[in-house]
Amino acid sequence: MRGLLLAGGHGTRLRPLTFTGNKHLLPVANKPILFYGLENLARAGIEEVGIILGPIKEGIVEAVGDGAKFGLKVTYIHQPEPLGIAHAIMISEEFLRGEPFVVYLGDNLLKNGIESFIKLFEEKQSDAVIGVTPTKEPQRFGVVEMENGKIVRLVEKPKQPKSNLALVGVYVFNDSIFEACKKIKPSWRGELEITDAIQTLINMNKKVDVNFVEGWWKDTGKPEDLLEANQLVLQELEPYNKGSLEDGVIITGNVVIEEGTVIHRDSTIRGPAIIGRNCEIGPNVYIGPYTSIGDGTKIVGAEIENSIIMNNVFIECNRRIVDSIIGNYSTIIEYEKNRPKGFKFILGERTFASI
Ligand code: DAU
Repeated sequence: MRGLLLAGGHGTRLRPLTFTGNKHLLPVANKPILFYGLENLARAGIEEVGIILGPIKEGIVEAVGDGAKFGLKVTYIHQPEPLGIAHAIMISEEFLRGEPFVVYLGDNLLKNGIESFIKLFEEKQSDAVIGVTPTKEPQRFGVVEMENGKIVRLVEKPKQPKSNLALVGVYVFNDSIFEACKKIKPSWRGELEITDAIQTLINMNKKVDVNFVEGWWKDTGKPEDLLEANQLVLQELEPYNKGSLEDGVIITGNVVIEEGTVIHRDSTIRGPAIIGRNCEIGPNVYIGPYTSIGDGTKIVGAEIENSIIMNNVFIECNRRIVDSIIGNYSTIIEYEKNRPKGFKFILGERTFASI
């Protein structure tokens, strides 16, 4: 089986974080989102993967290369405009045709990987396997309506959903999907929708089976999704310390500290939290649960909780920063003391904030 990993699109809903780069390279627990997809594909035994590159391709080829570090052989497929998931499949026909394949939306994270999709496809001798999971916000996703275990209808982002079953961004197909993709027309948002292509498969009497996904699933489309994904991944963190700790440092819970990082005196780190390489944390810093700090970042005096702080950030203030996403090379320094406590940030790369 081959894989098709989608990393195109504009990443509009994650602006400003995506003004300066591809959303699939944003970090969750200090690892680019896209790497989780590549690892899931490799773990399922897939060896050849096509990656869809869209208008913002900077960084992806540099980060993934030929795929060897994931045990994969990667081919890049260019999609100059995000004309839809079904469009991405159509332009990859030459690469994919001839054997069943997995389509994986590069902004999706799944706790339990994708093996269950492939197993079901093989067991049921399906033409397609789709994944569903109950959600509180079905209007944000493709929605599957089912009756007595059978699919009745698929609708993309319905305003009034008739079911709470969201379509997860992993699909297994055989060549019949190409015919279905060629039959559909662009939707109201100008895209060739994968939901319409799957509905067409059903109308063509093809065998479409449903995988009820177990374990968490996260689509990282919006900033708050990124923080939630960070929490979910950090929950499973295996702790280790390769850095050095000065006197009076307190570490509790599962914490990862990478090489070259120094935690200066009287700082507290409460896991789950991860701190990258060559950081300087402290003195008098509190890092609270569900925080990821990238490489080369320096933090003095602040309290940080439930946040993603990326690489080479500088923070020096006696403030509490919560629920925030701070892009590479950003600076936060204290301007005036004794202002109200608690600030919320979503800052893009190279932002400067003075508080
Ligand atoms: O995450 C699951 C949802 O993904 C499904 O429930 C929906 O049925 C499906 O349409 C899709 O909805 P989104 O609106 O979330 O898709 P988004 O535009 O975010 O694109 C999903 C991924 O595919 C993302 O990593 C970008 C990439 N992509 C998207 C399009 C439209 C491409 O590479 N090329 C494209 O043309």
